[in-house]
Amino acid sequence: MNIHSEKILILDFGSQYTQLIARRVREAHVYCELHPFDMDLEAIREYSPQGIILSGGPKSVYDAEAPAVEEALFDLGIPVLGICYGMQLLARHFGGKVVPAGKREYGHADLMSKSTPGPLFDGFFIDGKSPVWMSHGDHVEKIPDGFEVISQTDNAPVAAIQNVERNLYGVQFHPEVNHTPRGEIIVDTFVRKICRCKGQWTPGKIIEDAVARIREQVGTDKVILGLSGGVDSSVAATLIKRAIGDQLTCVFVDNGLLRLAEGDQVMATFAENMGVKVIRVDAEDRFLQALAGETDPEQKRRIIGNLFIDIFEEEAARIANAIWLAQGTIYPDVIESAGGKTGKAQNIKSHHNVGGLPDYMKLKLLEPLKELFKDEVRAIGEELGLPHQMVWRHPFPGPGLGVRILGEVKKEYADILRQADAIYIEELYTSGYYDKISQAFAVFLPVKSVGVMGDGRTYEYVISLRAVETKDFMTADWSKLPYALLSRISSRIINEVRGVNRVAYDISSKPPSTIEWE
Ligand code: XMP
Repeated sequence: MNIHSEKILILDFGSQYTQLIARRVREAHVYCELHPFDMDLEAIREYSPQGIILSGGPKSVYDAEAPAVEEALFDLGIPVLGICYGMQLLARHFGGKVVPAGKREYGHADLMSKSTPGPLFDGFFIDGKSPVWMSHGDHVEKIPDGFEVISQTDNAPVAAIQNVERNLYGVQFHPEVNHTPRGEIIVDTFVRKICRCKGQWTPGKIIEDAVARIREQVGTDKVILGLSGGVDSSVAATLIKRAIGDQLTCVFVDNGLLRLAEGDQVMATFAENMGVKVIRVDAEDRFLQALAGETDPEQKRRIIGNLFIDIFEEEAARIANAIWLAQGTIYPDVIESAGGKTGKAQNIKSHHNVGGLPDYMKLKLLEPLKELFKDEVRAIGEELGLPHQMVWRHPFPGPGLGVRILGEVKKEYADILRQADAIYIEELYTSGYYDKISQAFAVFLPVKSVGVMGDGRTYEYVISLRAVETKDFMTADWSKLPYALLSRISSRIINEVRGVNRVAYDISSKPPSTIEWE
């Protein structure tokens, strides 16, 4: 039995929570994939999942063009769990009635058990009750023949239904979101007890499987990988090194826009400790020259991205017989680039990574993390023995300090920012706050303000500190760091970094601000 031999299929009807369903299934140690709701029945049969989950979605099942699954899906004999829209679809398919609710229900509700809650709720209720998260406009008014109601809330008399004989279940609430405490028990019960999956998807087995697959794919070929020092490329490099040893060469481009001592840390971890072949390219001058005079954020991103590609290509050309390009692409990147049926979000900032390498490079792609969520990548990183600080480091954008120095990028500014940022991050580590927040960094503002130091007047630059808390980086709250900590960071920066006499703290949330300043 391999780790992909048991799997759950999640059909996506466009809910903002669909990825969370997949994460909960993975947490139950079962592999799953997300596919569009109209996946071909033949393809589903061939895929042969142990269970199917129908996600929520923004439409109403009685709309003229409401998305639906192929009718025969329910005759495959595969257990089905419908969530929100998915449950309404299930109910309607079997002859139940779905109507608009008098009042849209959004937020917490107390789910109450019926006298026999049924297999799906095994171990879920405490004293017959449990809080759940609701978000729906429609509800099931009449359940289909052969089904029974297994729970209710004050506003939703039909909060969950089942047909145990046919292994069909529906819940009106969202067990996948964090707002439903213990919701993971329901997903776990569905995949392990109802679908009878044993739970093969564990970090150790994922590594074993990835190593075997890399060996099989690559054979005796050579592989190159652009190492950035971020979690994804670091874990990819470690896995590939384990699989094929010296056939891997990493290229680490120092663009002069990295954090303090970052290049040395990457070399120490990979080249010195792990014996990975890493070519370090010192390209600071080229990047700074290319950026000279440019103040537009999108142009800066483009310049940095394009030059990265040029340099990477130059280095790749030097590595004899490299046939594979390895990338740290992860599952959310795959889902997002496949594009939702509901249309893609507007491009607010052009994010770049090595994924933008041109076709004519003619390298085959090796993407050992492309089935994994970020938390799984981290778990694997830990299992592979990467340092905690590398596995749990905050995200760092491809253009690096280039988008944290507002306006024109200059070496003087980058040096000031690096020092201020290092003090900030060090203080976050020593105070224990680094691991409690999602992302923190300093920003350089190219404006001068007046200050006084000793007996003299100063006229120097401003540093702004940013710290945010977020689950998905699509929305974020600014972190309420303690005043005493902010105060210590501010005085250290002003005392220790020449050229700075003022520190500000960014108290904007996303939206309407973004996390990075450019
Ligand atoms: P924003 O600023 O859009 O950032 O709220 C959301 C998350 O994305 C990161 N980010 C980037 N990552 N290349 C990247 O690889 C980029 O150009 C880029 N811009 C923003 C940002 O650090 C945050 O985690």
